[in-house]
Amino acid sequence: MSNVIVRSVNGVWDWFTERAPAFMPFYRKHMSEYYAPKNFNIWYIFGVLSLVVLVNQLVTGIFLTMHFKPSAEEAFASIEYIMRDVEWGWLIRYMHSTGASLFFIVVYIHMFRGLMYGSYQKPRELVWIVGMLIYLVLMAEAFLGYVLPWGQMSFWGAKVIISLFGAIPVIGNGLTEWIMGDYLPSDATLNRFFALHVIALPLVLLLLVALHIFALHEVGSNNPDGVEIKKGPKGNRWSPNAPADGIPFHPYYTVKDGFYVCFFLIIGAFIVFFAPAFGGWFLEHDNFTEANRLVTPEHIKPVWYYTPYYAMLRVVPHKLSGVLVMFGAIAILFAVPWLDRAKVKSYRYRGLLSKVLLGLFAISFIWLGKIGAGPGTDPTETIIGRFLTAYYFLFFLTMPLWTVWDKTKPVPDRVTMHE
Ligand code: HEM
Repeated sequence: MSNVIVRSVNGVWDWFTERAPAFMPFYRKHMSEYYAPKNFNIWYIFGVLSLVVLVNQLVTGIFLTMHFKPSAEEAFASIEYIMRDVEWGWLIRYMHSTGASLFFIVVYIHMFRGLMYGSYQKPRELVWIVGMLIYLVLMAEAFLGYVLPWGQMSFWGAKVIISLFGAIPVIGNGLTEWIMGDYLPSDATLNRFFALHVIALPLVLLLLVALHIFALHEVGSNNPDGVEIKKGPKGNRWSPNAPADGIPFHPYYTVKDGFYVCFFLIIGAFIVFFAPAFGGWFLEHDNFTEANRLVTPEHIKPVWYYTPYYAMLRVVPHKLSGVLVMFGAIAILFAVPWLDRAKVKSYRYRGLLSKVLLGLFAISFIWLGKIGAGPGTDPTETIIGRFLTAYYFLFFLTMPLWTVWDKTKPVPDRVTMHE
């Protein structure tokens, strides 16, 4: 009996590979013969965690779409219906809304890892650039999604952010109207945002994520030592031509990542079940009230993942300059592979100067986030915000200098296994 089963499975497998001969080479290249450095540490799980959250967003999003009504008249009520009447609707909705914040948490840590280990340096510039495109699309996707429940913050947040385009000389007002399809966020706005949120941007996102991983697998992963394993000695127990410091992604990292994914899912479930709005950080209190164009909420502010940039917009006195500073802050990240001129990749082998400046950068980004989430009425905070914004830009603009001035330590020839 078992022989029959084995023969049938083998038969189906042969049938499949004969018709899809590219499948096994593809699997080998990206899984069983993708040799990843053997010294990955915990910072290296956030790429996979981003993938997990991406899948969560897609799956829960599909189920939400089955019950959501993309019209200004019905959107808010349809969310209430999902939360109260649809079976498990509350869980699906919270998995999606909490998932958005978890997405940004893991992506921010993933990006910071890149900065720490110089993962954007040659030959991984393209991996970083595609990563930045993902980040842009992700921010647009989350913004569109936040408008859909048609709560007070959806409406007023959309109004404030879309009105920013009005600061552009000559075409500004026309552009704002064109984006909204009206003079205010309205049914037309909600309709188009729904189309973009559920189909257009997810498609772009998926394509970019595939490109991101292919671009990475072409050159191979960096690691906490910043040592290029492909340039090191050859030959390991799996293949004489593979890098000596590499281990097959499958099963070694699939198992390791699997462990951390379970751990992450437990933490995620804990938040979804016990603190889905996370004290107003993941879902703002004002968004539990239906949109009303005649009542402005006391503090209009975006969700936490935009607040560092929002703070920059607010602390700059002139509107157009504020908009330019805000978009400039994101644009400058694209240039990092060319701004960093250090001879070594990883901060492990960089000097104190680089470590202190990177640490201060992380602190200023978080601090800006806190300022952007506040009411913006405290003048001292505005002054601090200006200093932090200046530091943000100086960190990158002077990077070609301090990365050269900084003393580096000799990089070992082979990867090391200490944490
Ligand atoms: C949906 C969002 C994203 C997903 C699913 C994703 C996925 C991944 C995966 C699976 C890896 C390999 C595993 C790892 O090194 O952690 C990776 C590596 C990498 N990602 Fe992302 N990523 C995303 C966003 C970003 C962003 C926004 C950036 C930066 C702008 C970025 C930059 C990088 C870099 C530089 C590497 C290579 C790291 C190294 O080899 O040291 N990624 N990404």
